[in-house]
Amino acid sequence: MNDASGRQGEQSKISSKNMNLSVTVSKLKRDEHKLAKLYDFKKYLDPSKFSFPEKMMEMVPKGTPPYLDNGEHYVERIARALAYFKQCALIGPSGTGKTHIVYLVSELSGLPLWEINCGLQTSVFDLFGRYVGLGKENWIDGLITSWVRHGGILYLDEANMMKQDIATKLNPILDTRGHMVLTEKDNELIHRHKNAFLIISMNPFSSEFAGTKPINAAMRRRMSVWLNFDYMSVGDKVDQKEIEMVAERGNISLNDAEIITKIGAKLRQEYKTGDLPYGPSIGDLVNWGKIVSDGANILEAGIETIVSMTSDDLEIQDEVIKIIKKFVGEK
Ligand SMILES: Nc1ncnc2c1ncn2[C@@H]1O[C@H](COP(=O)(O)OP(=O)(O)O)[C@@H](O)[C@H]1O
Ligand SMILES: [Mg+2]
Repeated sequence: MNDASGRQGEQSKISSKNMNLSVTVSKLKRDEHKLAKLYDFKKYLDPSKFSFPEKMMEMVPKGTPPYLDNGEHYVERIARALAYFKQCALIGPSGTGKTHIVYLVSELSGLPLWEINCGLQTSVFDLFGRYVGLGKENWIDGLITSWVRHGGILYLDEANMMKQDIATKLNPILDTRGHMVLTEKDNELIHRHKNAFLIISMNPFSSEFAGTKPINAAMRRRMSVWLNFDYMSVGDKVDQKEIEMVAERGNISLNDAEIITKIGAKLRQEYKTGDLPYGPSIGDLVNWGKIVSDGANILEAGIETIVSMTSDDLEIQDEVIKIIKKFVGEK
C-alpha cells in the first residue's frame, strides 16, 4: 500500500550497525504498544490467541499509522464483525481509508494479510492454484487456497469487480464453516481454517469505474455486517482533525492546511456528484502539503499534484485549477 504502511519509527543515527538495529526495534515495539492502546480491540480479536508459522508472520503489517474517525470506532466495529461472523464488508468512495484500516486491523490482531484487488486481471489459477511443470506433485496453492488452508485475513478490494468464475468458486467458502473443493487437484477438500477471516470492500461511486456493478447476490447474503466509510471533510463540512493531520504530516501551517483541506472537500463533493472522476484522499492532501512545505505556493503545488491526479483530460484539469484559484483568492 502507499504511505499508510510506512514505518513511523525513526532510526536514531548511531554508527554501530547492530546498535542501530536494536534501537529501531525497541522504538517499533513501543509504537505498536501505543497503537494497541488507542483501540479497545483485544476483547474482540486477541493476538495472543492466534499462532501462525514464522513465514506467515511476515505478512502482518508493521507501523501502520492510526486511523482517525469522529467517534465511529470503525476499527473496533470491524474487529467485532470478524469476531462474531468471521467476515464483513466496507463500503465507501476511494481514498476513505478502507485499505488503511484493513492493514491496521491486521497489525492489531496479528493476523497475516492476504490482499487481492478484484479489479485487476487476476486469473482463477493465481487465486486457486495450478500445477507447474510436469507431474502431479508440483501443485502450487493460489492465494485464496492458501488463505483457506492456513488462515489470516483475506482482503478482497473492489469486490464488486470480481469476475464471475472467481465468485462462483469463492461462494461455498464464504459460509462461516465453509470449505472448498479443488476440482483441479483430484477434488481435494479443504475446510476453512478456524482463523480465516474475510473483509471485502467496495466503491459505490461509479464514474471512475465504468465496470462497477452490484455485488454478486450470493456474496451479499453471506455478509452480516456492512460498514459505510466517507471522507472526513466533504463539501462545506470541514473536519478540524483532518486539517491538523494535513498540517502535521505535510509539515505546513494550520492555515495552509485548512485551505488545502477545504479545496479537497470541494473536489470530493464534485466527485460524489459525478462531476469529477476522482476525489482526493487525505494522503493526497498530505502530499500536496509536502510540496508546499518545500516553498511552492498552494496553486503551484496543486498543479503538480492534485490536478494531474484527478484526470489527464485538460478540460477537467482546468475545472480543478479554477476551484483551487477560488480558494486561494487568485483570478
Ligand atoms: N481516517 C483516516 N485516518 C488516517 N488516514 C487516512 C484516513 N482515511 C484515509 N487515510 C489515508 O488516505 C490514503 C488513502 O487511503 P486508502 O486506505 O488507500 O483508501 P481506500 O482504500 O478507501 O481507497 C492513505 O494514505 C490513508 O492512510
Ligand atoms: Mg483501497
